[in-house]
Amino acid sequence: MKILSIETSCDETAISIIDFKDNKEQLTFNILADQLNSQIELHRPYGGVYPDLAKREHAKNLPLILVKDLEEARLFTKKRTLIDEDIRELVVTTLIKEPEMADDIIDLLQNIGRPNIDAIAVTAGPGLPPALWIGVNFAKALSLIWDIPLIPINHMEGHIMASLLEHKVANSYSLSTPRYPALGLLISGGHTEIVRFTELGHYEIIGQTQDDAVGEAFDKVARMLGLPYPGGPEISRLAEYARKSQMVVRAEFRLPRPMLHSGDLNFSFSGLKTAVATIVKSLENIDNDIRLELALEFENAVTDVIVKKCERAIYEHNVKSLIVGGGVSANTHIKSQLSTLTKEEGVDMYYPGTGLSTDNSIMIAVAAHNKKPLALNELRANGNWRIDDINN
Ligand code: KG4
Ligand code: ZN
Repeated sequence: MKILSIETSCDETAISIIDFKDNKEQLTFNILADQLNSQIELHRPYGGVYPDLAKREHAKNLPLILVKDLEEARLFTKKRTLIDEDIRELVVTTLIKEPEMADDIIDLLQNIGRPNIDAIAVTAGPGLPPALWIGVNFAKALSLIWDIPLIPINHMEGHIMASLLEHKVANSYSLSTPRYPALGLLISGGHTEIVRFTELGHYEIIGQTQDDAVGEAFDKVARMLGLPYPGGPEISRLAEYARKSQMVVRAEFRLPRPMLHSGDLNFSFSGLKTAVATIVKSLENIDNDIRLELALEFENAVTDVIVKKCERAIYEHNVKSLIVGGGVSANTHIKSQLSTLTKEEGVDMYYPGTGLSTDNSIMIAVAAHNKKPLALNELRANGNWRIDDINN
C-alpha cells in the first residue's frame, strides 16, 4: 500500500511517498520519496516562526515538492489528465482563500498522470493554523482530482511513530512494538507532554506544561543571550562546551527547577525563562563566559525537571518503555540523562533516528498506516488538536 504524506504544521514543508509491505508480524516499509524544505533561514530574522510567512512559503513549495517526490518515486508521468468541471469547482471552493494555488494545482495535475497511490495522509493539527490549513487544503485538492482517500493525522502521534522507527537497510524501515504500558515524552517547540498508552492510537495525557513548551523556553532564552533562532541547538552547543570544560556556574546565576516537587507530572517553564531575563537585565553586558554559564545552568535545570517527571511517571504507571519524540529530543544532554534513568529502571528507551527528531512527513505516513480516511467535508485543520482526542 502506498501512502503520500504531507506535513506543514510549522516551518517545514515536507512530502513523502511510502510503500508499506504486506507483513502481518511487523509493519515494514520502503521510503520511495522524501522531500523536505526547511524555512529556518527565512524566519531567523524574526527570532521565531512568522505564521503568515510560513503559510506563503508552504503554498509556494508544496506543488514543487510534489513533483520532486513523484519523480523520485518514479511515479511521475507526463500525460494529459481530464479534470471534470464539478471537480474543478470543488477544488476552487476548497482553496477559496488561495485562488492562485487552485489554478496552480489544476494546471499541474492536468498535465501529469494520476500516480498509483492508495491514500493521502496530512497533518491536521496541532500546529500553526495558517500553516496547517494550507497543507490540509492542498491535500484535499489532490484527493479530489486523483480520487484518493484522505487521512487526517495528529502531528504529536507522528512524533511517537518517528521514535519507534528502526532503520533496516538503504531506504527500508520497520516499526518497533514497545513493551506496554508505554510512556511518550513529547518535547518540541509547541508542546511538552507526557502521554501513557497501551496500544498505538489511544493516548492519555498524564502530564503537560502549564505555560511555555520546553523548545519555546530554549528559543526565548537563546534570544536573551543574543543567540540566533532556533535557540535549542545553540544553547545545547554552548552548554556542552561549558560542561566539558567543567565550568562552575557562579551562585548568582543559579536557576530554579520549576515544579520539581509539585507532586504531579506537570511542567512550567515560564518562571525559568523569567529568572534568566531577570539575571540578564541586571548585567551591563553579556560576555562569552556568562553566556556559557547561563546556557549550562538553563539546560541542567530543564533536564533535571524532565528526568524527575519521567522517573515519577515510570513509578506511578509501572512503565516498561519510554518513547521520546519532538525537536528537543535532539538535545544530547537530555538524551544521556534519560538513558541513565531508563537503564536504572529497566525501561526500554526509544529515540528518533537521524533526521527524524525534527518535523518530517515520514512519521505522518507511518501514523496513517492503520487509520481510516475521513470525508473531505468533515476534515478540518485544528491548531489545538490534542493527542488524546484522536478518535473523536
Ligand atoms: O518538533 P519540532 O521540530 O517543531 C515543533 O513541532 O515545535 O521542534 C522544534 C524545537 C525548537 O524549539 C528547537 O529550538 C528545539 O526543537 N530543538 C532543540 C534542539 N534541537 C532542536 N532544543 C534543545 N536542544 C536541541 N539540541
Ligand atoms: Zn513537531
